[in-house]
Amino acid sequence: MHYPIEVAQLSPAIGAEIRGVDLAREVDDACLGRIRQAWRDHLVLLFRGQRLDDAALVRFTSRFGALEIAPLFQGRRFVENFPEVMIISNVKADGREIGSLGNAEAFWHSDLNFVEQPPAGSFLYAYEVPPVGGDTGFANMYAAYETLPEALRARIAGRRIQHDARFNSAGYLREVQVPDALHPIVRTHPETGRLALYLGRRANATIEGLPADDSEPLLDALWAHATEARFTWHHQWRAGDLIAWDNRCTLHRRDSFDESHRRVMHRTQSCGTRPN
Ligand code: SIN
Repeated sequence: MHYPIEVAQLSPAIGAEIRGVDLAREVDDACLGRIRQAWRDHLVLLFRGQRLDDAALVRFTSRFGALEIAPLFQGRRFVENFPEVMIISNVKADGREIGSLGNAEAFWHSDLNFVEQPPAGSFLYAYEVPPVGGDTGFANMYAAYETLPEALRARIAGRRIQHDARFNSAGYLREVQVPDALHPIVRTHPETGRLALYLGRRANATIEGLPADDSEPLLDALWAHATEARFTWHHQWRAGDLIAWDNRCTLHRRDSFDESHRRVMHRTQSCGTRPN
């Protein structure tokens, strides 16, 4: 199906809404090309009012690249027959959580920064959202790098961060332990060739080869800069929203919400390459 889509910028820093497309139907290559160009230009795309089941979510999002298999959750699949789909939710069924991250704040991070090849893109579809809270914020790491004061740039040139794998973005200990990964603090986006800050997540990160007395204040200064409001945009969800973010050049975070409210999101993510 060909849709003459409209691309509407959502903030000066980051994000665009794609209007005029029904993602439950097959999208033709020309339309997909425009969507992917908008993704490169705006880093985060919002599609409102979609009606996606897991098959449609997997079909559309796999056109951004091969999808990763979601990790097992409490020893089982999140969604039977759709191993690519993970659930982000605070809902419990029969006393068990149906998804991860609960209702707490999720601190600024990029997804799976602690593995050798973090995902390229993440795709989050909202089934149920709370009336207030649970907003998701995004920050533009090209802009953060491009505006980094020269003195800070010089101090991180050629340096790498050791990314800690133990805790997720809501502070929970992970079920499966993987070794930490080392990635350059400035990475080159493999599609656009642009340089981006790549900070991963703050907790327990260290800069390779620096004593803690140097590494900690330097990381604090980088994080303070990267998360300035001028690089960010926050999204208030409605059921039926799909957001696609480029995990290679963005950070994201989520507000907490009242635990008595339900929030149910299904997510896929596409395979990435080693940051360099
Ligand atoms: C995440 O941090 O990956 C999830 C974001 C959200 O729940 O909005």
